[in-house]
Amino acid sequence: MVTDEILTADEASRYYKRVPTHKGVEVVIRAIRPDDKYEILDIFPTLSQRTLYMRFFRVIEAPSLESLSRYTNVDFATTLAFVVTKGPNQNIVAAGRLIRATEHSKVAELSCLVVDHYQHQGVGNALVADLFQAGKAWGIEQVIALVHSENHPMLRLLKNQGYPCEMLFDEGEFTVTLDISQPPSDENRASYRTTMAAMHQAV
Ligand SMILES: CC(C)(COP(=O)(O)OP(=O)(O)OC[C@H]1O[C@@H](n2cnc3c(N)ncnc32)[C@H](O)[C@@H]1OP(=O)(O)O)[C@@H](O)C(=O)NCCC(=O)NCCS
Repeated sequence: MVTDEILTADEASRYYKRVPTHKGVEVVIRAIRPDDKYEILDIFPTLSQRTLYMRFFRVIEAPSLESLSRYTNVDFATTLAFVVTKGPNQNIVAAGRLIRATEHSKVAELSCLVVDHYQHQGVGNALVADLFQAGKAWGIEQVIALVHSENHPMLRLLKNQGYPCEMLFDEGEFTVTLDISQPPSDENRASYRTTMAAMHQAV
């Protein structure tokens, strides 16, 4: 997809793409569907406390089917919500979304989660890269992510996207702002690496 393409809400609701992760795992990235709530309900008890804490910043109870209905039944004008599926049964292994305040807003907040058993295989990277690429066509120029300071995989993942990036640290979490209107570059990846190294030395 090139940057001057436009992704309408209707097209976003039918999004489907087969991609290899950078670690060679074949996955499908597609729009979330209302009936995904049943599979997500089953997945929830398998998630580790750490994974849930890194995603929600607190200990949370298993959600009800009703609250999952709200999660899977989205308005694609304001929420670009994808799941990643894998294997012969195309089981859900990750979910992520960009949420914007109005359908004309150019700023969106990112959240994502990869099921524990499938972490570290490039799934999160593939999902976020695809959300950013589709997000540009959907009208987003700036992405904000709230990341726990100990969430090194997520900080690395965001860094690896190669966009100009600002990080603000406050009370144990980073607010990471990425300018996805610019083309990604190795220079940005490298300068981010320097910033991270400096931060680790300073702590
Ligand atoms: C953060 C998360 C989405 C990353 O997904 P993932 O599929 O495991 O990540 P990837 O395999 O694509 O790896 C992304 C980068 O992080 C690095 N990474 C992955 N796991 C790591 C770990 N445990 N420690 C350090 N680095 C790690 C990878 O090396 C990779 O960098 P590379 O491309 O230079 O190799 C996933 O761990 C997760 O869902 N965590 C819990 C929920 C969460 O934190 N959500 C984000 C909230 S904003």
